[in-house]
Amino acid sequence: MTKIVIFGQSPDKINGIGPFMKYEKHVFVCINERQDASRKSCGEATGLALVTAMKKQIKDNGLKIRMRAQKAGCMDICEHGPNVVVYPEGVFYGKVQLSDVPEIVESHLINNKPVERLIIDFGKDH
Ligand code: FES
Repeated sequence: MTKIVIFGQSPDKINGIGPFMKYEKHVFVCINERQDASRKSCGEATGLALVTAMKKQIKDNGLKIRMRAQKAGCMDICEHGPNVVVYPEGVFYGKVQLSDVPEIVESHLINNKPVERLIIDFGKDH
């Protein structure tokens, strides 16, 4: 029988994560750059530097097997960018700068404490 698990919250966790999660933390960094400038885009500000820094910080902390950062396309929350989302929690960070990367890794990825000052408050916009 297949059991539905939402956001890795199953009591049947394997190695501390839900059975459908490959990584303990999976970080997506928007690098989208629009050609037409009709809307702000995350990649304009930092290009690949943000995802490169996140990957390096994960590697330097010995987390590479357990956690992953990767490029992502537009998340349709462009005005908040540069944007990063961390799963399995689904925490969206906005206006992320290179200088924020060590804090996100240390606080959220290692210590499970999301960086509140960077969390996007969708309640204000939606
Ligand atoms: S360009 Fe990054 S969320 Fe749209």
